[in-house]
Amino acid sequence: MQTKMQIAIDGPASAGKSTVAKLVAKKLNYIYCDTGAMYRATTWKALQMGVSLDDDQALGKMLETMELSFKPNEPEQLVFVDGTDVTTAIRLPEITNNVSLVSAQPSVRKNLTERQQQIASEGGIVMDGRDIGTTVLPNAQVKIFLVASVHERALRRFKENQAKGIDTPLAKLEAEIKARDYKDSHREVSPLIKADDAILLDTTSLDIAQATDEIMKIVKNTEK
Ligand code: CDP
Ligand code: CDP
Repeated sequence: MQTKMQIAIDGPASAGKSTVAKLVAKKLNYIYCDTGAMYRATTWKALQMGVSLDDDQALGKMLETMELSFKPNEPEQLVFVDGTDVTTAIRLPEITNNVSLVSAQPSVRKNLTERQQQIASEGGIVMDGRDIGTTVLPNAQVKIFLVASVHERALRRFKENQAKGIDTPLAKLEAEIKARDYKDSHREVSPLIKADDAILLDTTSLDIAQATDEIMKIVKNTEK
């Protein structure tokens, strides 16, 4: 069977979702969609406009007119909000530390979920996030729940930061990751949770190539 599938990759912060999702998309010649970037972009705009980050109604109104788009640009996708390139800005700590509050607001989830469903409507997509397998694409043909130990995930972020010349202590990164996991898993709307039919993949001792191979095996088995 050679259909253009929907592939959902969910999991906690720094499990390697976006890295492997991008590689899987490339191998299959599928589109890649980073839903975390959409929540980050919403947080960026709210901060710019001085909208309170827990004001569900105001955030919903802001999103009604917010233009959000992606542009392929190897190795990373560019993200635009109302024509402004926010690719770098949405990765700053101010956004990372506030995004879970914004992403817990029901009107934000509704608006972004609808956009994501629209992007994925024709299949041929690898989408990563927290609620793709449970809420955004409940009928996705492949669902992966990617995990790794907190220590390993903090270590990965630490190395990533070091490569960028950012020096954040490992213990701080570990605490931030734990706090974000807790908030993402305990919110009322679409919390981070493994879909019943998702395949659990623990990448604590897998490198990027091995994790990508494991997912490709699952995809090939689904195609049979
Ligand atoms: O890459 P990283 O693990 O740091 O996070 P991300 O994928 O960029 O997502 C940033 C935040 O957006 C998460 O901590 C969640 O609060 C939120 N998010 C969400 O609620 N639902 C999604 N489908 C994707 C992200
Ligand atoms: O998207 P998510 O937050 O789940 O994670 P990521 O941004 O794809 O990966 C976080 C960091 O871990 C990146 O620097 C990846 O290169 C690295 N990584 C790794 O070392 N081993 C893996 N199996 C997957 C990712």
